[in-house]
Amino acid sequence: MGYYRSMDGKYAVVTGSTRGIGRSIAETLARHGCNVVITSRNAGECRETASRLAEENGVATLGLTCDVSSQTEVSSLFGHVASWCAGQMDVLVCNAGYPLQEEPWKTPLHETPQDKLDGWYLGVFRTDAMGSVYCTREALPLMIARGRGSILYVSSISALTGFQGAPYTVAKAGILGLMKDVAKEYGRYNIRANALALGNIRTPATWDLLDAETRELFAQQAALRRWGSPEEVGNAALFLASDDSGFITGHTLVVDGGMIGW
Ligand SMILES: NC(=O)c1ccc[n+]([C@@H]2O[C@H](COP(=O)([O-])OP(=O)(O)OC[C@H]3O[C@@H](n4cnc5c(N)ncnc54)[C@H](OP(=O)(O)O)[C@@H]3O)[C@@H](O)[C@H]2O)c1
Repeated sequence: MGYYRSMDGKYAVVTGSTRGIGRSIAETLARHGCNVVITSRNAGECRETASRLAEENGVATLGLTCDVSSQTEVSSLFGHVASWCAGQMDVLVCNAGYPLQEEPWKTPLHETPQDKLDGWYLGVFRTDAMGSVYCTREALPLMIARGRGSILYVSSISALTGFQGAPYTVAKAGILGLMKDVAKEYGRYNIRANALALGNIRTPATWDLLDAETRELFAQQAALRRWGSPEEVGNAALFLASDDSGFITGHTLVVDGGMIGW
């Protein structure tokens, strides 16, 4: 199928883009002509995803490892990326997220053992929220220098409504705070910041780990009575990343099939 290459010649960094939602966002951007940096903590998967996207879409790609919870690694990643794209960073997608873990998610706060509290809460926060802070801090000077940029954060409907799993909710709500602040402070440089608040999306981190009954239960929670696909998130991300959403900033787009209502 031929695509309108609305992102032709642009450059994007997508964190956590070797599988699931991040990979789909990277694929969608590449399909629309964007040159993309693929990152995760797995070197082989970064290289493999990057070369496949380049081959399939005729764009330039770079696959580099980076643990977003490490300020040093993020700094080094952006050093490489800045020279690769000659400072042209059009889009940053902060997608990398801490893996879902049964115990921290399911233990109510008042029953969380004191010796686990920091580990459970800060573990998610370091990857999801601080990872977004580190990447944004590195991208901003490049975007300011060119007087343009679009930053997209991947959050969750948990951050809007609360949900079981407070360590996750706290981190995802932090991301929305960061997004609003960046939108407000950097709009004067023509830098936009927006977020996706996602419902249940079929990925290796969710669908693949659940039994049939739970999958169906979650499907029935949405007005559309189904899970969303990573491709549907990719399309929403493309809109917010591209100039098609040029007058939209500070916005949280809910992509949940009508789960939290309106
Ligand atoms: N799926 C859903 O239903 C859903 C709902 C709401 C929000 N979200 C959010 O959407 C995002 C993507 O979720 P997903 O379901 O696609 O997860 P996934 O399938 O587990 O993919 C996560 C990606 O992030 C990478 N990653 C994990 N930790 C990282 C770190 N510290 N530094 C760099 N990369 C890291 C993973 O690669 P490595 O592990 O190899 O590093 C992988 O590429 C997350 O922020 C998640 O919280 C998902």
